[in-house]
Amino acid sequence: MGDLPTPKVIRLGLIGCGEIAQVAHIPTITFLSSKFRLTYLCDVDPNSLSFCASRVAGSIRPKTTQSASELCSSPDVDAVFVCSSDAVHTMHGVLALKNDKHVLIEKPLALCKRDIEELREAEKGSKGRVFVGYMRRYASAFLDVMKEVGGTEGIQYVKVRDIICPNSVFINQSGTFPQKFQGVSAQDAQELAEKEDSMVHQALTVDMGLPVTEERKKMLRLLGGLGSHDLSAMRELIGMPKGVLGARVTPQMWTVLFDYTTFAVTYESGFNSVPLFDASIEVFTENKVVTVKYDTPYVKGLPTTMVVRERVGETGFQERIVRTSYEDPYTKEMLEWYECIVNGKAVKTTIDDAVMELELFKMILTAAD
Ligand SMILES: NC(=O)c1ccc[n+]([C@@H]2O[C@H](COP(=O)([O-])OP(=O)(O)OC[C@H]3O[C@@H](n4cnc5c(N)ncnc54)[C@H](O)[C@@H]3O)[C@@H](O)[C@H]2O)c1
Repeated sequence: MGDLPTPKVIRLGLIGCGEIAQVAHIPTITFLSSKFRLTYLCDVDPNSLSFCASRVAGSIRPKTTQSASELCSSPDVDAVFVCSSDAVHTMHGVLALKNDKHVLIEKPLALCKRDIEELREAEKGSKGRVFVGYMRRYASAFLDVMKEVGGTEGIQYVKVRDIICPNSVFINQSGTFPQKFQGVSAQDAQELAEKEDSMVHQALTVDMGLPVTEERKKMLRLLGGLGSHDLSAMRELIGMPKGVLGARVTPQMWTVLFDYTTFAVTYESGFNSVPLFDASIEVFTENKVVTVKYDTPYVKGLPTTMVVRERVGETGFQERIVRTSYEDPYTKEMLEWYECIVNGKAVKTTIDDAVMELELFKMILTAAD
């Protein structure tokens, strides 16, 4: 019997050595060493860069650079993982695509149409493809709920909830001991601030016709941060709403009532100090209530579950808690991306998918105006 073929190991370049890279992505990629190897790291902060390089397991040290362009054009990099700050996602994604590299870009892919268009143009002329890091949509329990619900027929009501305490509470107990550094040069900090201002201006003023205020800017960033997890999962499960019936929106707590023609959806989210991660999507039909429940992704291995509560016979009731896998959503996401890169599987979380998010942000912020 001949030897089994050696699976291809994708050599990864990672841009953005901040919190999520340290807490989730570098450990996950390191565990997946039969499929991925980190060969290059980039950050404008030299301290984050050397700290993250020291966190990569294995005998071959990754190269490091402060130049995303150097990383993207390197022959040592097959694919690029962008987990830098929101305002530079487009710049980094375009650099990867121009070098014909597949690229996983953290959510939010972009916050304005200008940036989406730039990415679209770059993808058109590239051999690489964009994969957006909506990891909750790769969780086993979410896929189980997709099957259990099976479309919008018979839905009476949906509740999307994401009320959590500050992420630092979970991160400080995650056992990953990330570090924050202040090593970014004044020039790089200035460039990032200008890019952020331009992105917010494009999103609020140009795309939505709303004046930029501090509160609205905060809300846009929160919708792109926490909100995009819930809203993108909601879209995949039940499609896009027709509109918004009402919204009360503050950066502490926000509630939106979406109109889906034959049913309504409440989306409630925000922050308090109760150390809980209360995130779920609950779908009500005549005889069954199906829920996907998420815990914090910052503590690896906490189960994501599907809960089905249903009528049995005339008056009977049963509740099933289904946990098909302990594998965390980041691992699932990486395994899916591997299939897309190596076996040409179609990407689910594409640019065209992510653009729908911008429509939802606009619906919410204009309704709350
Ligand atoms: N999927 C998830 O669960 C999840 C969770 C947290 C954050 N995120 C997303 O990941 C991204 C990073 O979040 P974070 O919490 O790690 O933020 P962070 O601020 O801790 O890290 C961002 C890093 O990017 C670096 N950076 C900024 N500009 C750069 C440039 N021009 N070139 C190279 N590096 C640059 C910064 O120096 C910093 O180290 C954000 O887009 C965020 O929305 C996703």
